[in-house]
Amino acid sequence: MPVMHIPGHDHQKPQEVRLDEIRDVMGNCQLCPLGQTRTNLVFGVGNPNARVMIVGEGPGRNEDLQGEPFVGAAGKNLDSLLSLAGLRREDVYIGNVIKCRPPNNRNPKPEEITACAPFLREQIRSIWPDVIVCLGNFAAHFVLRTEMGITSLRGRFHQTGHFAVLPTFHPAAALYHREWQPVLEDDFRMLGAWLAEHPAGPNKGGQQ
Ligand code: URA
Repeated sequence: MPVMHIPGHDHQKPQEVRLDEIRDVMGNCQLCPLGQTRTNLVFGVGNPNARVMIVGEGPGRNEDLQGEPFVGAAGKNLDSLLSLAGLRREDVYIGNVIKCRPPNNRNPKPEEITACAPFLREQIRSIWPDVIVCLGNFAAHFVLRTEMGITSLRGRFHQTGHFAVLPTFHPAAALYHREWQPVLEDDFRMLGAWLAEHPAGPNKGGQQ
């Protein structure tokens, strides 16, 4: 695998790295102890040429069992949020900061995030999206390299190198904090407006 770059420092699309090559490098990853407790490694799914990449936190129970991100209740919410932006699940690419489920859905540990980081960086470089939507604190901290909370970060676009970044609440959190749901919906409508206003980047085939 080529040398890793920090996405925030990239302005030009790097040499092509295919997602299946990144997945092959991960193999039966044991870079952190979650390799011992997972059922399936949840690599990511979706359109390799997507304009929009969605980054979540890490797999939950259903994702661990099925090997696919956002297939549980949070995933249903994500699908309906995407539709507010004029997007279908298959239009976007969906990945997570960590690829293996933490026991009992606890928060990812810093050393687990560090071990997994090169793979998400490579996925971002491979997809080279126009927009990265960060769901929750862990994704926003990873992509924007800040410790600021999601409540202050959300609701506006941030630019980091090539990428426009839209941080917002995690759709699972909005299932408990019902008052966050309309805010999340506003953020996804804002995403739809941004896509309509900005021409698709190179290799995006004019797709929405
Ligand atoms: N929550 C996440 O952050 N990612 C998933 O894949 C599922 C739930």
